[in-house]
Amino acid sequence: MELTRRMVLQSAALSAAATRTFGANGKVQAGIIGCGARSHELMAALGVQPGVAITRVCDAYAGRRERAQERLKGLGHTVSTTGDWREVIGDPSLDAVVIASPDHWHKTHVLAALNAGKDVYCEKPLTYTVEDGLEIIAATKKTGKLVQVGSQGVSTQTQQKAREMIQSGRLGKVTMIRAAYNRNTASGAWIYPIPPDAGPKTVDWAAFEGPASRKYPFSLERFFRWRCFSEYSGGIATDLFVHLCTTIHFLMGAEAPSRVTAMGQIYRWKQARDVPDTLNAILEYPEGFTVNLSSTFNNQSSSESNFVFLGTEGTVSLGWEDMVFSPETGHEDNAWIVASWPSKLEAAYWADPRVRASERPALAKPSLVKGSETYGGQGMDSTWTHFAAWLESIRTRTPHWENAERGHRAAACAHMVNRSLREGRVVEWDAAANRMKA
Ligand SMILES: NC(=O)c1ccc[n+]([C@@H]2O[C@H](COP(=O)([O-])OP(=O)(O)OC[C@H]3O[C@@H](n4cnc5c(N)ncnc54)[C@H](O)[C@@H]3O)[C@@H](O)[C@H]2O)c1
Repeated sequence: MELTRRMVLQSAALSAAATRTFGANGKVQAGIIGCGARSHELMAALGVQPGVAITRVCDAYAGRRERAQERLKGLGHTVSTTGDWREVIGDPSLDAVVIASPDHWHKTHVLAALNAGKDVYCEKPLTYTVEDGLEIIAATKKTGKLVQVGSQGVSTQTQQKAREMIQSGRLGKVTMIRAAYNRNTASGAWIYPIPPDAGPKTVDWAAFEGPASRKYPFSLERFFRWRCFSEYSGGIATDLFVHLCTTIHFLMGAEAPSRVTAMGQIYRWKQARDVPDTLNAILEYPEGFTVNLSSTFNNQSSSESNFVFLGTEGTVSLGWEDMVFSPETGHEDNAWIVASWPSKLEAAYWADPRVRASERPALAKPSLVKGSETYGGQGMDSTWTHFAAWLESIRTRTPHWENAERGHRAAACAHMVNRSLREGRVVEWDAAANRMKA
């Protein structure tokens, strides 16, 4: 059988990776691009994993480089810092790179890392546009390197339990899912405090702007609150809905919606932002279910149970740490309907053997109904577990479930939401081409 050139290249890349030994100490040598708020959580989770040495980090603000070095030193890692991400990519001693830069940078950083032969952990959303995802997928195929996306919820025990329940059919047929992500604080609306030492001497504005579609004069507001601005972020859709869609795809075994529609507004946090603070979307899946996504920055009441999966045999309510399965005991009751029929017909209805025994007044015995099952997660948090899975995937060369394809399609849901919002119409997905229809 003739091997195609691509297969040869892929298998060469894979076998080179398989025989690779990591660093002098046998540990995966890792670098980090972007040392912001999330990255410091990532450092805390990755830095305590056995089998990894973090040796190089990069950020565009000096204060975060300093804090990263300090934090990692405390975890036993000797780290050099740089303001230029190319130095991380170009470091031949690194096996893998963690990317936690703002969203408009993800594609550039991921492609550069893959092409330099590094495996990648990239924070969600994997992409800023749908086309970014196609380029990243192509690069993983060309290089044989791995991408794992950082929507860490799939690494919780509760989401894994919910997935098992749904896929084993315990919920019966699931045709409706509701998911919400609500907040009621300035910080929740991405209006973060700005460090008092930030200014042109400590912040590299050009390094931040990079591939942004439109350039602005130096702005600390844009630098530290970039999620509020569409040149760097897709707002609620790419920041929050992407987590919800990743989980829904994971639990339902679904890949991408066929149609999406959305509505959103800026109602409350009107100062300095161009992305909505309230967003509703409906996603229709070819697997036969519909998803309602919503987010408001005006009230946080539903933040404890972010997802509800509604099936014919039961409901899964899923929070960040806990889940409840409630069996559905559907009980037919037409007594009040047939009581309005002529008496003869009502009597005939009850005499009909096709009317279920459980519905017949004379036969419906009292029964004990099984109640809800509650599960809670304990132990290491999901970011730790997600990183443990990443390191395992690097060592065994086995792609994680949340690979470039899945990251692309979860982010694509968000891009479809935003396009629907912009254009005021239903947006469709072309599954064969793995992209939005024009
Ligand atoms: N998985 C999660 O639960 C989760 C939570 C929060 C954030 N995130 C994701 O993590 C990423 C970072 O978010 P954040 O909240 O830490 O933002 P942040 O603004 O706190 O951090 C981003 C950092 O990147 C730096 N930076 C910008 N351009 C750079 C460049 N070219 N080279 C190197 N550094 C550069 C900035 O100086 C900043 O310190 C985003 O993609 C976000 O969506 C994920």
